Amino acid sequence: MNTKYEALIKEAICAREMSYSLYSKYKVGASLLCDNGKIYRGANIENSSYSEAVCAERVAFLSAINNGERNFKAISVVGGVSEINDFAYPCGSCRQVMSEFCNGDFEIVLYNGKEVKIYTLNELLPNSFSKENIK
Ligand code: THU
Repeated sequence: MNTKYEALIKEAICAREMSYSLYSKYKVGASLLCDNGKIYRGANIENSSYSEAVCAERVAFLSAINNGERNFKAISVVGGVSEINDFAYPCGSCRQVMSEFCNGDFEIVLYNGKEVKIYTLNELLPNSFSKENIK
């Protein structure tokens, strides 16, 4: 793994261990890097009422926001059923939550166990609806 985000990816791999995914068995870990260097972890939390599942990315964001953080650099996400073998692209709801708190140059770092892919939020959610629309 040859990236400046190696340490962040390792945090996401550790975060994934906390996944509560009884139903899909798809375990996701996320690690959110703040401008001040702090990292907040999240894992997906599912529910017997399936639609109440919360993604790893949102768990990490809500934890950071609830601890007073407002400025973010990057998030790493890893996913897969038994092992990390898939690029876990953030869902639409998570992209929208990111857009509330992050600029377009916020980076999304995906790792599938072999390769790293890095996107900006602008690439994954262009032309988004934002607070600018509700002035
Ligand atoms: N999931 C995430 O936590 N993040 C993603 O980026 C994609 C999907 C979760 C939601 C659900 O618990 C499981 O993965 C399967 O959809």
